[in-house]
Amino acid sequence: MLVYLNGSFVAAQDAHVPVTDRGFIFGDGVYEVWRIVRGAPFEWSRHHARLEHGLSEMAIPRPPEVAPERLGEIARKLLTENNLLEGEASLYLQVTRGAAPRTHFFPPAGTVPTMYVTARAFTPPQDLRASGVTGITQPDVRWLRCNIKTIQLLPNVLANEKAHAAGAAEALFIREGVITEGTHANAFGVVDGVLRTHPTTDLILPGVTREVVLELATELGFEVREEPIAVAEIPKLQELFVTGTTTDVLPIVQLDGTPVGTGRPGPIAQALLSALRARLDAAASGSFPGN
Ligand code: PDD
Repeated sequence: MLVYLNGSFVAAQDAHVPVTDRGFIFGDGVYEVWRIVRGAPFEWSRHHARLEHGLSEMAIPRPPEVAPERLGEIARKLLTENNLLEGEASLYLQVTRGAAPRTHFFPPAGTVPTMYVTARAFTPPQDLRASGVTGITQPDVRWLRCNIKTIQLLPNVLANEKAHAAGAAEALFIREGVITEGTHANAFGVVDGVLRTHPTTDLILPGVTREVVLELATELGFEVREEPIAVAEIPKLQELFVTGTTTDVLPIVQLDGTPVGTGRPGPIAQALLSALRARLDAAASGSFPGN
């Protein structure tokens, strides 16, 4: 497999970063994940804007290859050389503050950020989306800037492992009595017929799929409110689902061992999943910037 690292395309096994890299030492970096449908990106610009925002919030110098045209070229080459132009794929990009002697303050001006891009085949697990999955809740012990997509994902990893060990697919974070989001997806629920999701504060990642799903829900005529679901409302949930780039719309039919609603994927989640699928398919006729 060919990957991109710091200006070169190299075989994955030959791609190395120094042990002094601040990504390795501090988790000092940001990342982004795009869905690719038949060689074309889904929602390229929204993901790109979030990447730019993350770099700027963390004051990481923007590598020149982050420019849309340059990045488009890199992505196209990775997809072509790795035979990923058919079917679906995910494109992963990571930028760290670079390699430098370990100091808690920033490294000297001129330290070159490390930039890594890779693409791999992705097949959406249709059966899980159709049957729904189980979930658990976990305390949200993350920091207060969850709106930045940093590579520092330890609370997410620990909570997801809890879910995995319990035979569940996802953990939903609870902070101050409300559902914030999942470990790698945003959370939606239906209470009294109204579709609800946490507003885009610093306590959640502003998911691109979340935004698309909100647009689709409005188009489909569902009543939508960007208002968090309280733990006290969980027994009243008619539907519960998570959304994300590699998650699509994934119904959670059982939470902490108790069925959600009828215990089967609900009509709103199913309608949104079909509408999202149509948008994904439409993206296949698009292209990368500079193409
Ligand atoms: N995760 N919330 C969190 C904490 C996430 O990590 C993600 C994405 C989302 C959904 O965002 P989007 O719809 O833009 O993918 C919400 C990526 C896919 C990951 O870590 O692999």
